[in-house]
Amino acid sequence: MSDPLRLGIAGLGTVGTGVLRIVQSHAEMLAQRAGRAVEIAAVSARSRGKDRGVDLSAYGWEDDPVALARRDDVDLFVELMGGEDGPAKASVEAAIAAGKHVVTANKAMLAIHGQAMAEAAEDAGVALRFEAAVAGAIPCIKALTEGLAGNRIRRVMGVMNGTCNYILTRMESAHLSYDAVFDEANALGYLEADPTLDVGGIDAGHKLALLSAIAFGTRVDFAGVEIEGIERVSITDIEQARDMGYRIKLLGVAQMTGRGLEQRMQPCLVPADSPLGQLENATNMVVIEGDAAGQIVLRGAGAGEGPTASAVMADVMDIARGFRVPVFGQPARTLAEAPAARSAAPAPYYLRLTLEDKPGALAKVASALGESGVSINRMRQYGHADTAAPVLIVTHTTTSDAIAHALAGVETTGVLLEEPVAIRIEEV
Ligand SMILES: NC(=O)c1ccc[n+]([C@@H]2O[C@H](COP(=O)([O-])OP(=O)(O)OC[C@H]3O[C@@H](n4cnc5c(N)ncnc54)[C@H](OP(=O)(O)O)[C@@H]3O)[C@@H](O)[C@H]2O)c1
Repeated sequence: MSDPLRLGIAGLGTVGTGVLRIVQSHAEMLAQRAGRAVEIAAVSARSRGKDRGVDLSAYGWEDDPVALARRDDVDLFVELMGGEDGPAKASVEAAIAAGKHVVTANKAMLAIHGQAMAEAAEDAGVALRFEAAVAGAIPCIKALTEGLAGNRIRRVMGVMNGTCNYILTRMESAHLSYDAVFDEANALGYLEADPTLDVGGIDAGHKLALLSAIAFGTRVDFAGVEIEGIERVSITDIEQARDMGYRIKLLGVAQMTGRGLEQRMQPCLVPADSPLGQLENATNMVVIEGDAAGQIVLRGAGAGEGPTASAVMADVMDIARGFRVPVFGQPARTLAEAPAARSAAPAPYYLRLTLEDKPGALAKVASALGESGVSINRMRQYGHADTAAPVLIVTHTTTSDAIAHALAGVETTGVLLEEPVAIRIEEV
């Protein structure tokens, strides 16, 4: 057998202890598969005395993760602390500069600094891997960089924030408002310390930016992701969508259009009988469409100790075996600078309008939509009250610009009693 691969693990929280448990419990199997032992040389976390339920006595300890990254007895630095900047960024940069391979689960850091870090790692001839940063246990980075390497990718889609999917499916199954389920999720500890990272779509947006770079050979462009969270999704829309054969998901979609790279993370209607439409609770799904392979659907746990540690170990094992791929599937300096395209890919839309119950109101709406080039595919009324006439409309394929223009036109008719709702219907 070759020399062991010696890990330095910074961060011993949910994911870090999960990695320790796998390395400790599967040592023999890992060694057989890699042809060399995978060992832990030293670890780092904030508080040394904390009981983490795992035995750390055989490992060295560093208070400073940068010092860990530079240790002579560390070949591979595993960054599992989190945070866009701070010690995570400093220690990853130190590891690369010291010629160490790096594995991280940190999507926030890579979405912002991924390009520079990838260039530095490739210049230094070391690996920088991040399977765990996108959709937990699901091997979607491997699917794109390896399994689908011979495909031109048409579109990548994903439900990649388990908390949001949990909130949306729980609202539907328990007939609860967004606020009620948000409070429930908070009490259960499902939300990040800053919940807007989850419900605001930012965490999922980080992941989409990383997937797009690999799928389309472009520089990571988190600023180019159009992001809308789930805060405004109402139980009314979830239930009306369901009655029309759809479910609402926080869906990430990336595709190359004639106007540039479109990256969207927003609530969308998807057909209830599609794989995305059937996704329940905190499960994640990544859908990749390649020109030769067609559609590939990957589904699994997007977070948690075991699932995330599983993905970290996939990267560790590749490095132990000597398997190398460029960080984003092609040399980082060759990644293209694609313009960010907004509202380029057309789609049908779901509209919910609460109108004054007066003769001619509907005709005014239809004419305002028509003047913006938005044509109606289906329309129905529901829950008719004395003074209000709620109307649901499914449009033919159009653009979000046309919808915005049309709704501005509807506003001027004076027949709206409430703010209109417009949600894209993604054909999946
Ligand atoms: N949890 C998941 O399901 C999941 C899924 C996918 C990706 N990720 C990513 O994985 C990373 C880790 O997440 P996690 O859930 O395991 O986080 P966590 O449970 O909060 O653990 C963070 C760890 O980092 C340590 N740490 C924080 N600041 C440090 C510093 N300045 N120096 C040394 N150690 C420091 C903490 O030390 P103490 O324990 O001493 O406080 C803790 O052990 C993040 O990038 C996250 O986005 C997590």
